[in-house]
Amino acid sequence: MKRAALGYGVNVEVGEVLLSGTNYREKPSSMTQSMKFLITGGAGYIGSHTTLVLLRAGFDVVVLDNLCNASSESLKRVAQMAGRAPIFVEGDIRDRVLLDQLLAQHPVQAVLHFAGLKAVGESVTQPLLYYSNNVEGTVTLCKAMEAAGVFTLVFSSSATVYGDPVTVPITEDQPVGQTINPYGRSKLIAEQVLGDLAASDPRWRVALLRYFNPVGAHETGQIGEDPRGIPNNLLPYIARVAMGKLPELVVFGYDYPTVDGTGVRDYIHVMDLAEGHLAALSALKAKKSRVGVQVWNLGTGQGYSVLQILRAFEAASGRTVPYRLAPRRAGDVAISYANSAKAALELGWTAKRDLSTMMREAWRWQIMNPDGYQTGES
Ligand code: NAD
Ligand code: WQD
Repeated sequence: MKRAALGYGVNVEVGEVLLSGTNYREKPSSMTQSMKFLITGGAGYIGSHTTLVLLRAGFDVVVLDNLCNASSESLKRVAQMAGRAPIFVEGDIRDRVLLDQLLAQHPVQAVLHFAGLKAVGESVTQPLLYYSNNVEGTVTLCKAMEAAGVFTLVFSSSATVYGDPVTVPITEDQPVGQTINPYGRSKLIAEQVLGDLAASDPRWRVALLRYFNPVGAHETGQIGEDPRGIPNNLLPYIARVAMGKLPELVVFGYDYPTVDGTGVRDYIHVMDLAEGHLAALSALKAKKSRVGVQVWNLGTGQGYSVLQILRAFEAASGRTVPYRLAPRRAGDVAISYANSAKAALELGWTAKRDLSTMMREAWRWQIMNPDGYQTGES
């Protein structure tokens, strides 16, 4: 098993308040001192922020990541910020032998499962790669968990499972299944596999967290989103235009039935999202009766158009972002934003960081790390 403990450069005061404005600085009461969690995909964008939140809340963390879309530099920085390191195992979630070894060596109370591929366009050209990573990977992970007696799982799902929503804001009971690309279908199938599994055995406690549009970065600018090549998503694309690395933003569609004709989404700060995972874990652990599968939207409940985002980013960065209007992108929906009342009621979680904070912190990460994690890689 290839593994590396990240124990270097730890000179940050432990307990320093970096989760300002949140309720998640301390362990939830349903969770005890000695808990250890496995985070698959923990070196990636959302996983690294969640690893930080769990370490700072006092838990031990084991990260399994094959680094196909991440750098271990993210975990070095997380270790410095948290004042202690996660255990890092470099490997693939489809490697059953590795998973068995890992779970035997590191008894964990739950798994947070982020590992997967997420590029919509790539999923169209390489569907088997997506079904293998996202579906087969989830099945293999669950088999290993079952064998090791670990039955609590938090799964990274996506608002993409709703397809073109019937109405907005989107509640969790809206129909799913109208997915229009292999990425979306791979998430939907993984959800269904987990639903069948939990129905078959009362020991399973599964959270399906349907994320809306994660953006932003940790407020220190130390960790953030580092897409390889030309970004597919709006925020990293805008940030690169603002840096002068790309000439202009191409706005996909200006004739949607929205405030200014451009597409509307529910952008959520990645730290709010990370804290939502701790809240979900706590809820899964707290329940005395059978849990089965629980679905929670993680969004702000507020939609913004592409042009509203562009203006907010310009205000936060002080830079002008050139753009041109272009035809709609295939597969885009007009409007998607969450009804987040269920998470508020059942998890006691709401997103706290506003749009200007998201934009300011996305920009701080970008200027502090113009080449992402390659900037200052040690
Ligand atoms: P990311 O690519 O930054 O993180 C995914 C991590 O998983 C990466 O570190 C990658 O190296 C790792 N990985 C991929 N396949 C693996 C495998 N087979 N074995 C081990 N490690 C593997 O992406 P992210 O934005 O942090 O997304 C995390 C999860 O959230 C993904 O499952 C994604 O589908 C889901 N999600 C993301 C978004 C979004 O917009 N970012 C929205 C909804 C859902
Ligand atoms: C947002 C808005 C675009 C880029 C995707 C996945 C979804 C989820 C999140 C993982 C849309 C517009 C974008 C650009 C633009 N991922 N846009 N110019 O499409 O809502 O969701 O990421 O689960 O599954 O589909 O996010 O950031 O790509 O687009 O005008 O260069 O910005 O048309 O209206 P999307 P996005």
